[in-house]
Amino acid sequence: NINGVEFAVRDLDLATAGRHQIRLAEHEMPGLMALRREFAAQQPLRGARIAGSLHMTVQTAVLIETLVALGADVRWVSCNIFSTQDEAAAAVVVGTGTVDAPNGTPVFAWKGETLEEYWWCTMRLFDFSDGQGPNLIVDDGGDATLLVHKGVEFEAAGQVPAATEDDHEEYRLILETLRASVSQDGQRFTRIAAGMRGVSEETTTGVTRLYELAREGTLLFPAINVNDSVTKSKFDNKYGIRHSLTDGLNRATDVMLGGKLAVVCGYGDVGKGSAEALRGQGARVVVTEIDPICALQAAMDGLQVVLLEDVVGQADIFITTTGGVDIITADHMSRMKHNAIVANVGHFDNEIDMAGLAKVPGVEKIEVKPQVHEWRFPDGHAILVLSEGRLMNLGNATGHPSFVMSCSFANQVMAQLELWQGEYGNTVFTLPKHLDEKVARLHLDSLGVQLTELSKKQAEYLGLHVEGPYKPEHYRY
Ligand code: NAI
Repeated sequence: NINGVEFAVRDLDLATAGRHQIRLAEHEMPGLMALRREFAAQQPLRGARIAGSLHMTVQTAVLIETLVALGADVRWVSCNIFSTQDEAAAAVVVGTGTVDAPNGTPVFAWKGETLEEYWWCTMRLFDFSDGQGPNLIVDDGGDATLLVHKGVEFEAAGQVPAATEDDHEEYRLILETLRASVSQDGQRFTRIAAGMRGVSEETTTGVTRLYELAREGTLLFPAINVNDSVTKSKFDNKYGIRHSLTDGLNRATDVMLGGKLAVVCGYGDVGKGSAEALRGQGARVVVTEIDPICALQAAMDGLQVVLLEDVVGQADIFITTTGGVDIITADHMSRMKHNAIVANVGHFDNEIDMAGLAKVPGVEKIEVKPQVHEWRFPDGHAILVLSEGRLMNLGNATGHPSFVMSCSFANQVMAQLELWQGEYGNTVFTLPKHLDEKVARLHLDSLGVQLTELSKKQAEYLGLHVEGPYKPEHYRY
C-alpha cells in the first residue's frame, strides 16, 4: 500500500514502459475508447465495485482503465500464473501518479506466480475498503466466481472440509485459501454473494462452469456469457489465437514451422484459428475431433482428421485447444519424436497430463528458459513442453493483440453496464444482438470498412429494421 493504493506487482519501476504500451494499445482498441467517450461524462458505473480476474496484460489495462473511467472502483488479478505482463500491472497501479505516489487501481499479479501466490492474489479481490466485497465480477475461466460459490457453500456448512487424497492440488489450495476466511468470518462470502449484481465471463471454459451451476440451480447471482457474443468467440478465440499461437511458438522455440507436421486437438473456434495460423506458416496440419460436425468442417477445410494415436510418433508439434481433460497423456508424450513441441491453448492445464509426465520413472525436466522445458525420457529422447502445459499464447507470448481484444472487452464493458443497471435473475444470459452488432460497428472505421446501408424497401423485403439487428438469434455466422 503506497498512497492508499494496495498492490502486489513485480516492480513499479516498470510503469513507464507499461504506459507506453498502453498508449499504443489504446489506439488499437477503438471499441473501448468509443465506450469511454460515450459514457465517461455520465459515470454509469459509479458505486460499482468490480473484482476482475483476467490475464493482467496491456490490453486488460485498457479494459480496467475504461471501467474506472466509467466510474467503477476496481481491483484486479490475473487468471493464470504466467499471463501477467509486469509492466502493464505496474502501469495500472501507478495510474496518472508516480512510482512514489501511485493513484491507479489495485493489482495483485505478476508473471510466474506459484499456485499458492495465485490463490492469495485472487482472495485480495474481495478486500475492497471498509470491509466491503465486490458487487460485480469480471471473470475469465471462473476462478473468482468459484471462490464465492465455494465460500458460501462452506460458510453454510460451518466449516471447510479437509482435502482428500483424490483432490487435485489446485482444489486443495482453494480449500486452504478459504479455511482462514471461513473460520474468521463465517458470513463473508454469504454477504458478498447477497450483494453481488453479477458476473460477466470471458471464456468458453468459464461459461461451461456457469451453465453447470445454473443447471444445478446453485448459481448465486446473474451471469452474462461474454464468450458467446459473436464479436467475442468468433473473433478473439479464432483470429486472436491465429496471431498469438505462432507468436508463442516462435518466442519459445524459434523452430521453423514450415514443413512440420502439426496436430491441432479440437476444431472449435480456437482450433480453427490455430490450424489456420500453422497452415499460414506452411506447416502440414492435421486435426483431432470428437464432434462429427467440427470434424466434417475440418475435412471440408482441407485438413486430415486423425486419431492422436496414429500420428503421435510422427508429428513435430502438438497443440491442444479442447477445454477438455487428458487430451495428451504421459504415454503419448513418451512416444513422441525427439524434440517434439507440446503446448496447450485451452484454458486449464489439465489438457496435457503434466502430473503424469512428472511421474514417468527416470524422466528428467530441464529448464531451457522460463516457460520452456525439455523433458528427457530414460531412453534419451526428449520433448519440449511450453508454459508447463498452461495457456502458452499468454505464457510464452503476450496473448491476443489489442484490436481483437477491443471487441472482447467492449462486450465485457457492456455486460458490466447491463448487470449494474438491469434486473437479471440468477441464470446465464448473453448480450442482445444489437449490442453485438454495436461492438462490430465500433471497429469498422479504423479498418476502412465501408458498410452498405439497407434501403427502406430492402429492409421491408427482408423483414428487418434499417438499423438492425440484421440476423435472427439462430443465425450462426
Ligand atoms: P469450442 O467448444 O468451440 O472448441 C473445443 C473443441 O474441442 C470442440 O469442437 C470439441 O468438440 C473439441 N473436443 C473436445 N474434446 C475433445 C477431444 N478429446 N479430442 C478432440 N477434440 C475435442 O471451444 P473454444 O472456444 O475453441 O475454446 C477452447 C478452449 O480454449 C477453452 O478452454 C477456452 O476457454 C480456451 N480459450 C483460450 C484462448 C486463449 O487465448 N488461449 C482464447 C479463447 C478461448
